[in-house]
Amino acid sequence: MDDFEILAQTIKSQIDKVKDLDDIEKIRVATLGKNGNVTSLMKKISTLPSEEKADFGKKVNDLKLKIETMLSQKAASLKMEMLKSKFLERSLDMTIPGPLKSVGKIHVITQVINECVDVFSKMGFNVVEGPEIESVYYNFEALNTPQWHPARDLHDTFYISENLLLRTHTSPVQIRTMEKQQPPIRIISAGRVYRNDYDATHLPSFFQMEGLAIDRNISIADLKGTLESAIRAILGHDKIVRFRPHYFPFTEPSVEVDVSFEGKKEWLEVLGAGMVHPNVLRNVGFDPDIWQGFAFGMGMERIAMLKYGINDIREFPRNYLKFLRLF
Ligand code: DAH
Repeated sequence: MDDFEILAQTIKSQIDKVKDLDDIEKIRVATLGKNGNVTSLMKKISTLPSEEKADFGKKVNDLKLKIETMLSQKAASLKMEMLKSKFLERSLDMTIPGPLKSVGKIHVITQVINECVDVFSKMGFNVVEGPEIESVYYNFEALNTPQWHPARDLHDTFYISENLLLRTHTSPVQIRTMEKQQPPIRIISAGRVYRNDYDATHLPSFFQMEGLAIDRNISIADLKGTLESAIRAILGHDKIVRFRPHYFPFTEPSVEVDVSFEGKKEWLEVLGAGMVHPNVLRNVGFDPDIWQGFAFGMGMERIAMLKYGINDIREFPRNYLKFLRLF
């Protein structure tokens, strides 16, 4: 081993023992600094006889490079260790509150639907579903509303083809149910319906809940009792419920039911109902001399308007969060 190698070894073992960056700097000054031992070797080159210069110079340069590399590697690994221990010191504090997340809510109309489902379920009604794209047969014909019937004008809607339309009411679910199920029947069905309407109490797309009860001895007293107690359970027992004679092709007799709109001394119609028309029963193969029933179709937005005192039905689909968060 020559002197250069011994010097390199010595410096290496010094660097290996170093614990902090200050010591690295000390070694750098002691070796490569102005008066460092390696620097003085460099200075010595010019004083040597020319035949020794090249060899000596190369060895000093190699040594200098070696030391620089060792110092910078050691400095990097020291920095890394310091960083690691810093992270460990400051490890995750589980007690710091996280950023606030805004929590979603169930839409007010869905809430109302759920409440209505609750009330009618307790009265023995089962939930069924029907399609929003409906055939002319289920939406009109089977409900005793032939092509020429003036009631079809009130149910103007979006036609997909001559025989397919966006249902104008949930009443077709009555037919679909009676085709599949034998009496006694008690069902409700909630969902979207579509009409060519738009003002403070009408929407082109709104929610209805259909109800149907078929049994041997059902009378209009059952209809009145069921609807009155359901509406009061949903809206509050102080509510005044009014039954008003009306006309629907699929019920006979037919009624519309209004509820007093608080403070305003006004009425808001919330549903249509009636005793199921014998022709409707015949259309599904039920004998009207044995089976009778009542049916109703209730507007979900209207119930929400009454429940929360909202004057304009168009608030519901507006998706204005400040409004929706109120419920
Ligand atoms: N389908 C009617 C409408 O949307 C409401 C209705 C009336 C439903 C009488 C019924 C019923 O089930 O018996 O205007």
